[in-house]
Amino acid sequence: MLRPWKLVLSGVQASSSMPLYLQIVHGLIQEIERGRLQPGTFLPSTRAMATSLGVNRKTVVLAYEDLIAQGWLVATGTRGTVVADSLPETTSKRQRVPAAPGLTEALPEYSFEPPPARPIALPTGDWVKLDEGSPDSRLFPAEVLSRAYRSSIQRAFRENRLLYGNPRGSALLREKVATMLKSERGLAVTADNICITRGSQSGIYIIARTLISPGDTVLVESLTYEAAVAALSACGARIVSVKLDHEGVDVVDVERQCRAHSVKAIFLTPHHQFPTTVALRPQRRLRLLELSRQFGFAIIEDDYDHEFHFESQPLLPMASYAPSRVIYVGSLSKLLLPALRIGYIAAPKPFVDAVAHTVSLIDSMGNTLTENAAADLIESGELRRHARKVFQVYAARRLAFGRSLTELLGSVVNFKMPDGGLAFWLTFERVADLDRLEARLPELGVRVADSRSFATSKSAPRGLRIGFASLREDEARVALNALARAARA
Ligand SMILES: Cc1ncc(COP(=O)(O)O)c(C=O)c1O
Repeated sequence: MLRPWKLVLSGVQASSSMPLYLQIVHGLIQEIERGRLQPGTFLPSTRAMATSLGVNRKTVVLAYEDLIAQGWLVATGTRGTVVADSLPETTSKRQRVPAAPGLTEALPEYSFEPPPARPIALPTGDWVKLDEGSPDSRLFPAEVLSRAYRSSIQRAFRENRLLYGNPRGSALLREKVATMLKSERGLAVTADNICITRGSQSGIYIIARTLISPGDTVLVESLTYEAAVAALSACGARIVSVKLDHEGVDVVDVERQCRAHSVKAIFLTPHHQFPTTVALRPQRRLRLLELSRQFGFAIIEDDYDHEFHFESQPLLPMASYAPSRVIYVGSLSKLLLPALRIGYIAAPKPFVDAVAHTVSLIDSMGNTLTENAAADLIESGELRRHARKVFQVYAARRLAFGRSLTELLGSVVNFKMPDGGLAFWLTFERVADLDRLEARLPELGVRVADSRSFATSKSAPRGLRIGFASLREDEARVALNALARAARA
């Protein structure tokens, strides 16, 4: 029986970023390749190896198991673990094949649709970001989230729910979302009407994939949410821009476009128009529904930040009084945390069944653990508690932001205090001022969404959408001071 006279594995360090067991795996492969561990040689027992390396025995067991699975070692029962007679192809043999370029240098030799020159998402980096209305993720207690995840994981194990599941998402969360929509937003829904999505963005894309055939006309407002337009276009929609004013979408123009095109759908954010923040007037909502009946188009209602309405009770979603005409999309991103990636679609069951099929094609199903953690947060009352807390915080930040805007930028920008939502819409007397400000912002270390990103027609007015919720008052002043400097330049 061959035993190594002394096996020394150097370089195994707890401080390395590579897991210890992988370091042992690499070390042993190196010893075998060098020939110091010959086929047929017995390795030290896991206990002896663990002692000599100063690591936990389980770590060595894991490393041996990995090497057995790869074919480097063979387990011989009670006699121990031995270097395999026939070794896997070694690195040195592989090196004789001409090396392929690394993925970092490789260029695809196939054609594909390149991404747009300006990415849709604001870049991340070491600068102040004035977002388009994100929440302040620092306000959600990490401990509460950890507890919800722990409980979700334990429950999933107990109930054996870690396999492939329903593409509509966790039954638990669908129940909770349906109850919330019924009791707080007047939607007559059950869990069968709900499909959980990865944020409302994936909801919009999934709806587009399910609803739109290439060439279908979809109406969008002349200023709207760019990522929604991109998702609709990616599914083949022919985008037609309709006018917008201070009361929301221009329904006369919607009718005009319906007479000119066969319209399949309209995408709207009626509660808080993106980017201008205005709520769509009730009379216009009713007119839209009449037009939807007359011309047979669907209304995609994106209600991305429903909870945050500061001046009055929020208007009920259009889906609450026209469930068969409206496909409703919501999200926990603004209320809880964008990183959870939880959104939902609420629609009649046959459409949700079709949506579920689309989900199966994209990612099979949602993230059970996160969805159940979110359900836990709703069930335990934590979500409601958080909603109450952040509502107060954001209400105060909204007022302070408005004051700072007037003080620092009042001579350059026009704005109206938004009744709801987490952002202000700033317009400029002179477009040249806006152009200058946007050109200077990067050098001042501030990023805002490009004013052109909201426009779907050349004649659309331009402005900036600036979120107020994610920054503390002092942080917001720093950012607004930079905006003011850029404006004065
Ligand atoms: C109007 C609108 N719709 C949808 C989204 C997407 O949000 P999420 O995918 O995080 O739910 C956003 C994000 O800011 C938004 O502003």
